[in-house]
Amino acid sequence: MNPSYWIQRFQDNQTPWTPPVMDGPVPFHKDSRCAGLARAFATFQLGETGGGTRLQRFVRAAFPPDGGDYARAVDLFLAEEHRHSAMLATVVEHLRGELQRRHWQNAVFRRVRTLCGLEFNLQVLLTAELIAVAWYGLLAHAVPDPLVRSACARITRDEVGHVAFHADFFRTVHRSRLPIGSQIWSLQFQAVLLMTEAAAWWEFGRCLRSFGISRRMFQGRVRGSARDFLARVGCFPGRTTSTRSDLKAVIPGEQ
Ligand SMILES: [Fe+2]
Ligand SMILES: [Fe+2]
Repeated sequence: MNPSYWIQRFQDNQTPWTPPVMDGPVPFHKDSRCAGLARAFATFQLGETGGGTRLQRFVRAAFPPDGGDYARAVDLFLAEEHRHSAMLATVVEHLRGELQRRHWQNAVFRRVRTLCGLEFNLQVLLTAELIAVAWYGLLAHAVPDPLVRSACARITRDEVGHVAFHADFFRTVHRSRLPIGSQIWSLQFQAVLLMTEAAAWWEFGRCLRSFGISRRMFQGRVRGSARDFLARVGCFPGRTTSTRSDLKAVIPGEQ
């Protein structure tokens, strides 16, 4: 992989998000869907708050003595996730919701990530990124509130980059494997993804449906990103789309 490319890219992407100026009362507060959306965003906010200590430890153990440039790129990636946490706190406050201190899905997610080494930790993280691309990307179009749309569009753009960052890592891993090894990995990756997708729909499907987003649309977005990821890694003989064309598909107004 090319860690120096990612260091530069994450550094270039540090421009702070500026919430759109909202004059007067926000009509969306009167919408019956506002409270449910605030709760869902609070859950996502909690998921973005982890310090990444274990991930950094795995990286340094995999690339001794100090993790090298990849560790630096991971630090910048984690900093970007922490900026998402701050943005989502702003969104929750804007929606007049309350931040969460714990959630069962977040607890399971953190526990599972520590079960194996660096590769599985990144795989679980990647699975969450694929769910996030679908969640934020769909809501960026669907929620009738400028601040929520703006935050969703910005986070979607960043998350598409995160998937590409992890794809770069996994492409390098699979170069040293026989095709059967990559196929076995791909099968378990897809199984974990399908379970996570089902859990995400169980938790957030009602909220998404209230904005006209069907389960089929959600699955289509998650699985489309997953197919593209597998093609980038070399585990699926499909055509990869560029990160820019990914963005055109998920973000309103992206050129
Ligand atoms: Fe994020
Ligand atoms: Fe991410």
